[in-house]
Amino acid sequence: MPIIQVKTKNHPYEILIQEGSFKDAGELISAKVSPCRVLIISDSNVAPLYAEDLKKSLKAFGFTPSIWHFDAGEQSKTINTLTRIYEACYESGLTRKDCIVALGGGVVGDVAGFAAATYQRGIPYIQIPTTLLAQVDSSVGGKTAIDLPFGKNMAGAFNQPAFVLIDPELLNTLNPKIISDGMAEVIKYGCIRDSALFEILETSAGIIPSAQVIARCVQIKADIVSADEFDFGERMLLNFGHTFGHAIEKASGYSLYTHGEAVSIGMSAAVKVGMAFGVTSPEILPRLTYLLQAWKLPVLTSLSTEAVLTALKADKKQLGDHLNFILLKDLGAAHIHPVPISDLRRAALDSLDQLVLGVPKKSFLPDNLIIHPGKIQGSVRIPASKSLAHRAFICAALTGKTHWELLVSGVYAPFSDDIKATLRCLHQITEAWAEKKKGHFVPELILDCSQSGTTLRLLIPIVAALGLEACFTGQGRLPKRPIHAYQEAFTANGVIMDFPENGDSLPLRIRGRLTAGKFELPGNISSQYISGLLLALPLLESDSTITLTSGLESESYVNMTLSVMSYFGVPVTRNTLNSGYHRYFVHPHSFTETSRPYAVEGDASQAAFWHLASYLGQEITIENPALSQLQGDASMQAVLNQFSSNHAEIDMKDIPDLFPALALAAAASGKDKRIYFKNVNRLRIKESDRIESTLAMLAGFGVENVRVLDNEIIINGVSSLKCGDISSFSDHRIAMTAAIAALKAEGDTIIRDSSCVAKSYPDFFSELKRLGAEIETLTEGGNT
Ligand SMILES: NC(=O)c1ccc[n+]([C@@H]2O[C@H](COP(=O)([O-])OP(=O)(O)OC[C@H]3O[C@@H](n4cnc5c(N)ncnc54)[C@H](O)[C@@H]3O)[C@@H](O)[C@H]2O)c1
Repeated sequence: MPIIQVKTKNHPYEILIQEGSFKDAGELISAKVSPCRVLIISDSNVAPLYAEDLKKSLKAFGFTPSIWHFDAGEQSKTINTLTRIYEACYESGLTRKDCIVALGGGVVGDVAGFAAATYQRGIPYIQIPTTLLAQVDSSVGGKTAIDLPFGKNMAGAFNQPAFVLIDPELLNTLNPKIISDGMAEVIKYGCIRDSALFEILETSAGIIPSAQVIARCVQIKADIVSADEFDFGERMLLNFGHTFGHAIEKASGYSLYTHGEAVSIGMSAAVKVGMAFGVTSPEILPRLTYLLQAWKLPVLTSLSTEAVLTALKADKKQLGDHLNFILLKDLGAAHIHPVPISDLRRAALDSLDQLVLGVPKKSFLPDNLIIHPGKIQGSVRIPASKSLAHRAFICAALTGKTHWELLVSGVYAPFSDDIKATLRCLHQITEAWAEKKKGHFVPELILDCSQSGTTLRLLIPIVAALGLEACFTGQGRLPKRPIHAYQEAFTANGVIMDFPENGDSLPLRIRGRLTAGKFELPGNISSQYISGLLLALPLLESDSTITLTSGLESESYVNMTLSVMSYFGVPVTRNTLNSGYHRYFVHPHSFTETSRPYAVEGDASQAAFWHLASYLGQEITIENPALSQLQGDASMQAVLNQFSSNHAEIDMKDIPDLFPALALAAAASGKDKRIYFKNVNRLRIKESDRIESTLAMLAGFGVENVRVLDNEIIINGVSSLKCGDISSFSDHRIAMTAAIAALKAEGDTIIRDSSCVAKSYPDFFSELKRLGAEIETLTEGGNT
């Protein structure tokens, strides 16, 4: 019979773990406590299942038992329940020689244990835990508590039980979700102390833990508690995953996640923090992820980093200027790692917003910087295509599968801000969609698209097609960027769109459910409208068509959408009409899970900056496999090749994002060059007015001979680039172009508001430094 000793100084006690031991409870308890009055405290679920049997068993061994129970659930862990327990103790005639038995999960154990600690200044109590969490965790260690209106476990006592009786067979009546919840703690033990246990769990994923596994967990907790009964040192190791876990529970108002789910996200986050601080090996993350997900536990949160950070900082009040994270040196080897409050944002960013498959790195992201001219050299791996990643995550989310993020691969952390915005919104949308399918009421969603126009334009029709009510918000220039093109088409098809009265696009409220039908859109507005509709229309109940009323610009983006949809099993057909414009036919269709995740290829728009660097004489090799022609911007090198002619003519219709880099390349091509850029008017409605911002950047480098005509720009080359003080206009593409150009300038160049590269390429400056660029942070008092 496995018996584990808890060797606390004043109250050592034993824990017995054996299948079927509950039926002998009376006998086993009589070996620890002399016959006396016993109050069995339980809850409304457990009492009907087990209390009468326990009462009979106790009676048979000379005890005088009575039963009292309260409504099951955390909401009962209150001072009110405590008072009622005192009353029940009194009514049962309990004295200090008598005993309480806590029969139930962690709630029963905590509240009954606290009652035992305080009734008549303390009477003995025994734990018979009936949930997995209670068996491996809460029944061991003597922490008892109730919740107060201002916080969880706010009043309590250390009160070791006289005996703990664990019968794993009691778990057979538990709901699987509650088992999963407890598994988060079981997995935690493997992580912090026992890699062999972790391996056992890996090979038995999905199987309810045996008595041996439970005993191993209890032994770990007993050892830690014996060494640190009052939680001043080693016991903190048990908090692995709980630092973020508690913050996540708090930030979601204790409603979105169960404790186990929050701990699961917290453990995954803690591993990523460990990786970011160079403590934890990256191999642990996929193993932990697999195990957590095998138990249907989440590894990502839909909460914003800001919300979790605020909740984390609330803990700071209690701890001064550090927060203790429990990080893993290895599987089975945890240690306490104080993180300065000033690094918390980094820790949160590094861990919460990233897909589990990504390897987090610290990005160098100063606001303002100085770049010295010089040579860079080496190879780069370009981050995944943002455009493809947006589309792939949307299609994956529309499969309705849990953990749909894992249907997409190749998107390495740190994520760009735009992808974070899409992921955050998709989590909200998929959760709401699932609730709606169950017939539950779903309140209006607040979907913050941050500064991402793609997120906004692609998600509006999807929200409309799912019939969800939502308020879209955004930051930076996004509220000013146009989205009205949907209005006419949607109003005629059942959706009400309320725009603000000041002429802005956001906040935009939408209500109603989109109906199938004939949609007409001009092709010379953003192709994202067409992509958004294409993604949404398969969700409707009958066939739809999208007819373009003018020639399609940026067609490659629409083709990208069709290609990703096809990977997720949704076909769309296309005709070219007599007018020469396209018509798309979309039928109702489910997005289906694929046998292999969609692998997002490198981002051609980001590769463009390295092509520019090579064009300017730097020695850069791009490591990624050759890009498909799905991305229009994959033509950067081919366009640069055209600059060998003195009077090249470049059509920007399909490659608007390449303009800053191409304009700079044109300017740096030499005095005898004159390059024409056609179809440039749409550049004015990008993250910045990209004609204005690009020309200002060129002027900063001493390139003044530029002519702006109607829908056309002519750039005359110069022999060398001057150094200057460049504003990025908060436009990532301007900042990155300027940084590459600065390496060829005649002196040091200042780039302001350079952290905007986080929008698409958070690692850009880290990469530039790695390749040998000399970059300094510009601070108000001087450089660092
Ligand atoms: N004291 C500690 O060291 C410690 C540690 C961790 C958690 N906790 C506390 O534990 C509580 C959570 O414990 P929990 O997850 O066990 O929740 P719980 O006690 O609410 O039990 C979960 C649900 O399972 C039901 N249930 C319990 N056993 C059952 C069985 N055998 N068959 C069918 N249904 C059963 C319960 O009625 C309840 O509805 C929280 O209040 C938390 O603060 C305490």
